[in-house]
Amino acid sequence: MKRNLLSAAFIVLATIIFSCNDKHITVSGLKDAFAGDFLIGTAVDAPQILGIDREAKPFIIKHFNAITAENAMKWESIHPGPDKYNFALADSIVSFALANDMFITGHTLVWHSQTPDWVFQDSIGNPLTREALLERMKNHIFTVMGHYKGKVQSWDVVNEAIGDDGQIRKSKWYNIIGDDYIEKAFEFAHEADPDAELYYNDYNNEEPLKRAGVINIVRNLRNKGLRIDGVGIQGHWHLDSPDFKIVDEGISEYAALGVKVMITEMEINVLPTPSWLYGADISRIAEYKDSLNPYVSELPDSVQTLLTNRYARLFGLLLSNKDKVSRVTFWGVHDGYSWKNNWPIPGRTNYPLLFDRNYQPKPAYYAVIEEALKLK
Ligand code: XIL
Repeated sequence: MKRNLLSAAFIVLATIIFSCNDKHITVSGLKDAFAGDFLIGTAVDAPQILGIDREAKPFIIKHFNAITAENAMKWESIHPGPDKYNFALADSIVSFALANDMFITGHTLVWHSQTPDWVFQDSIGNPLTREALLERMKNHIFTVMGHYKGKVQSWDVVNEAIGDDGQIRKSKWYNIIGDDYIEKAFEFAHEADPDAELYYNDYNNEEPLKRAGVINIVRNLRNKGLRIDGVGIQGHWHLDSPDFKIVDEGISEYAALGVKVMITEMEINVLPTPSWLYGADISRIAEYKDSLNPYVSELPDSVQTLLTNRYARLFGLLLSNKDKVSRVTFWGVHDGYSWKNNWPIPGRTNYPLLFDRNYQPKPAYYAVIEEALKLK
């Protein structure tokens, strides 16, 4: 009952907000509020695309104009065996996006996670040579990008290659190929589809140390005459971190290199989480404890307010950088689908997005729209 009254209040509030300053702006979805500012995206997976959740597609069409496959284009999904490609789910995502005029980002071509071990081994399990791994990387990039040529406009070519210390991550890609593996990935990607936009994507790369490492990558690619169009800041954020001043600096420094900046996997975790698990290193996990899962039945108003205010400030900041930010993508359609329910601690009930588990807009939804309309 209290909940219904609350959401009724927000709807009334929303109507007032949307008619403020004597302007009557009809906002039927999130993307409309940010039209002319930046694209608003979401990540999708099988439940939304294969019709298992029948509400999903119309909802996505209403609110989002950009799409990323949450898992379907990752190496382990799309290329599970040396001679086996599995395009079915990714094809459905791409068809849905094209039919609804959405900007598509292929996620992701070269990453150390969700990439099977066989990728780095020969047929008897020995590590590949540099040449053999480069060949395998090239074939993968050509096959996947080739399959979506003319359909998928942009690619996260390399994901998470820098550590929190700003140094290159000592992944199997690095250990076998050497530090030019990033250059090679961008070179192959440009050859595979000369029209595609090519991005570098990472988490925590708003932070100064890691940012410096990513800036080096961009500069190095440019110095070598290679194409890079943008840097994705994943945006797996928290109520108390990062400091938005750092995000602001990060956006400006990347943009100063002449690349687009995107927030590519945004959500705000509201659950107690040890800070060593901040970021998004998917190999780190901690054990479930009830004390770390305090809001199983609902989010208390006090925390809802913290979330709302943080989203409002964040979008205020992004809007003030709208000349630099080309897209803001949420990592999931609604709270129930967020990976934050299961990472870094499995089995929790999290509330990190703008829509609740019943597809209802949360106060944070109205707050970010209000930020957008202030400037219209
Ligand atoms: C996550 C997905 O959301 C989960 O479903 C999956 O189990 C693990 O990966 N950085 C990325 C994303 O670039 O691809 C990750 O997505 C989250 C961290």
